[in-house]
Amino acid sequence: MLFEGLELVSALATLAACLVSVTLLLAVSHQLWQLRWAATRDKSCKLPIPKGSMGFPLIGETGHWLLQGPGFQSSRREKYGNVFKTHLLGRPLIRVTGAENVRKILMGEHHLVSTEWPRSTRMLLGPNTVSNSIGDIHRNKRRVYSKIFSHEALESYLPKIQLVIQDTLRAWSSHPEAINVYQEAQKLTFRMAIRVLLGFSIPEEELGHLFEVYQKFVENVFSLPVDLPFSGYRRGIQARQTLQKGLEKAIREKLQCTQGKDYSDALDILIQSSKEHGKEMTMQELKDGTLELIFAAYATTASASTSLIMQLLKHPAVLEKLREELRAQGVLHSGCPCEGALHLDTLSGLHYLDCVIKEVMRLFTPVSGGYRTVLQTFELDGFQIPKGWSVMYSIRDTHDTAPVFKDVNVFDPDRFSQARSEDKDGRFHYLPFGGGVRTCLGKHLAKLFLKVLAVELASTSRFELATRTFPRITLVPILHPVDGLSVKFFGLDSNQNKILPETEAMLSATV
Ligand code: HEM
Repeated sequence: MLFEGLELVSALATLAACLVSVTLLLAVSHQLWQLRWAATRDKSCKLPIPKGSMGFPLIGETGHWLLQGPGFQSSRREKYGNVFKTHLLGRPLIRVTGAENVRKILMGEHHLVSTEWPRSTRMLLGPNTVSNSIGDIHRNKRRVYSKIFSHEALESYLPKIQLVIQDTLRAWSSHPEAINVYQEAQKLTFRMAIRVLLGFSIPEEELGHLFEVYQKFVENVFSLPVDLPFSGYRRGIQARQTLQKGLEKAIREKLQCTQGKDYSDALDILIQSSKEHGKEMTMQELKDGTLELIFAAYATTASASTSLIMQLLKHPAVLEKLREELRAQGVLHSGCPCEGALHLDTLSGLHYLDCVIKEVMRLFTPVSGGYRTVLQTFELDGFQIPKGWSVMYSIRDTHDTAPVFKDVNVFDPDRFSQARSEDKDGRFHYLPFGGGVRTCLGKHLAKLFLKVLAVELASTSRFELATRTFPRITLVPILHPVDGLSVKFFGLDSNQNKILPETEAMLSATV
């Protein structure tokens, strides 16, 4: 008995000793890790490096970032201020909030800072992309790509976009069950990117498979860059390889057969524009370019579309005011597939619609910020930003803390009305599409898509939340409702009354 008791005590003592050793080891390695990064400060500059924690060796604060979601940035900003340091996705990072600080970063492109996305993003998107290129190569690429988003090009995409959206809403309305809006919005924007933007005629089944692979790709674009079996990064690389194969096939088929199309798509314009600028694109450049366009268009616009639907659900008065404007301008229609009825000029005359889209993009900005690497040490908010470190300017936090916005957390489209114009005081308080030389290339296309979606929703659909409460929002890999957003859609007849789906109509007739 005594012997057994002694054995138990000795086992407990060993366990306690192990725990103490592990805790000590963690504490020491944590401390050494902090010192390792403190030593990289620029000694020729007297200013301190920003406050903050570098987390644990190698993983830094990546775990906290993934778990805390929106709370990560705000809790650290409250503790350390608008400029703080951390360690995310395998690298040291200074996160920056506030119009003045962000202005310095965005206007400092090419001399103070240069774009540098996390390693996983860079590797998965590829080297031949606009977002990964710098200096003259970047300038030239932007010149070539800008033709895709010219007024003329957007006008030619508009009827196709409207048709894809109308078809989708019709399918949602005739579905007897509730729709997972986020999931369906991803399919919609993916279809828009593949069919309208790039003009690929991939068969439906193949498109479905490509969509699944694409989701895997996007899920792992922001991952720890560790290439091990079962790691997110490895899954991302495999998805990239499959996508590139599919894209190469689609590009080759498209190059061989361009007849029978009644408009130029972005890929046609891109190929033509690169020839005009004296540099024909290689197959690899075309594959990277199309992958980037799908990536940029798909995830961001799906996020914004879901937020738009969620806000229209939460604020029926906003939807009603929108319908009034559309009715007054003769844009509200009764569900006919009226291709060609909408024009860019008609849309730009819809001021309240513009306010609604702007407000969705302010409060639910899909892209939380942009990454840069520091080319030379500079001062920001009283701190040194040392050469070689990475910086992320935060769009979402800058919106959330902008003093120019009254009741900053309230969804209030009228803040952008001509009478109030809250965004006019200071350019960098409101920047859902970034700013400076790297402003989003596709912002007019994204806004066009969201406006057409709002017009079609207001014209042809009634929709109701299918859950008791609205879902929580998460930010990784992009802002979206946790478990999607469950909504029941109904079509509208010419008197704007609900049309029940067949099964429901039959049920209500029998009751
Ligand atoms: C709601 C939708 C969208 C949002 C919120 C958005 C946001 C942004 C932001 C914030 C940046 C700047 C990142 C930085 O500073 O590094 C950016 C860059 C970019 N966006 Fe968008 N975007 C959207 C839709 C699109 C679409 C539809 C396309 C094209 C089809 C597109 C193409 C690009 C490209 C190519 C860049 C890189 C520009 C450069 O580095 O020079 N975006 N976007």
